[in-house]
Amino acid sequence: KKVVLAYSGGLDTSIILKWLQTEYGCEVVTFTADLGQGEELEPARKKAELMGIAPENIYIEDVREEFVRDFVFPMFRANALYEGQYLLGTSIARPLISKRLVEIAAETGADAVAHGATGKGNDQVRFELAAAALNPEIKVIAPWRLWDLTSRTKLLEFAEQNQIPIAKDKRGEAPFSVDANLLHTSSEGRVLENPAEEAPDYVLQRITRPEDAPDAPEMIEITFEKGDAVALNGEAMSPATILTRLNELGGKHGIGILDLVENRFVGMKSRGLYETPGGTILLEAHRGIEQITLDSGSGHLKDSIMPRYAELIYNGFWFSPEREMLQALIDKSQENVYGTVRLKLYKGSARTVARWSDRSLYSEKHVTFEEDFGAYDQKDAQGFIQLNALRLRLLAARKRRLG
Ligand code: ARG
Ligand code: SIN
Repeated sequence: KKVVLAYSGGLDTSIILKWLQTEYGCEVVTFTADLGQGEELEPARKKAELMGIAPENIYIEDVREEFVRDFVFPMFRANALYEGQYLLGTSIARPLISKRLVEIAAETGADAVAHGATGKGNDQVRFELAAAALNPEIKVIAPWRLWDLTSRTKLLEFAEQNQIPIAKDKRGEAPFSVDANLLHTSSEGRVLENPAEEAPDYVLQRITRPEDAPDAPEMIEITFEKGDAVALNGEAMSPATILTRLNELGGKHGIGILDLVENRFVGMKSRGLYETPGGTILLEAHRGIEQITLDSGSGHLKDSIMPRYAELIYNGFWFSPEREMLQALIDKSQENVYGTVRLKLYKGSARTVARWSDRSLYSEKHVTFEEDFGAYDQKDAQGFIQLNALRLRLLAARKRRLG
């Protein structure tokens, strides 16, 4: 038996690695992805080697460009937000990890993949729906649903018994459940489990508290082509580079902190603290460029499907025909989304202050409050309103008749 494990090198997946070998009795291949979580990956190789994984069975890959180009950017074309607020930083990374797990399984002759998501959450669903969509035969091992290490405390005991080192956070306690990548950092568990309690500042991993952010605002310009950011302050950059730079800027200015209670797909509510510095700036900028390049028909239609699209990603249906159908609609809407947005970054906010485009639909000639030299005949509005008012008049007349 051979299994490919999504291995971060952290505590949970190290325990899983050990457990797969000793309790489940299978050969393990590890896959560690650099998604921009900001951690060294070589320690993960060391740890895997120490646990007896052969060098050819240790996969460590930098997938940052693929992550941003093929997953994050397509999602941002939709301005996707789950339940109005969550930028889906974890949700969008899972399909990519699953895709590589399934590919590595094929390369190494493994018949199963394994992940470290618990049986209570969304991530198990995302990993497994993606794997099923990509290989109908693939088996999934989810140790959290199998073993008797049913609490964090028991997990720590197992780690101690098996000489697995336990990382400590800044306050010397075992860490929360943290998931990080180029788009966001999410923290759940421990002190966050009571939503009536404010999250302490030490939970923040990558964003400066707005109170401590610089007193001087910073202006930036983001350029878009076909709805994707392609340049920052006039300098062309790759997708992962631009998001990395926006993360630095957002982090410095306290932008992108979200404290949210959300509805998990499995039915329960959970409270999380999200840090999405670059993504928060990017959403604002993308909305800014769409304001002048989309007509109302396209804009309102894509806005109306956005909640459905976001829910598909949240629920793990990235590799589904309905997500791809909505994606085709969204991508079509971006054909003329070209141009530049200027934003002001200041103590927790990223505000659009100017936008321009060769493909703008904005017509000052039509909208001006000054003399328009015949561009628009105000008399046309009278008939427009009369006909729109017709059924309202008929309704009002009936209401009056019936008293
Ligand atoms: N609730 C978020 C989601 O479902 C994040 C989940 C992962 N976060 C974590 N701390 N393990 O997308
Ligand atoms: C987990 O359960 O592993 C993390 C939270 C989630 O997936 O929703």
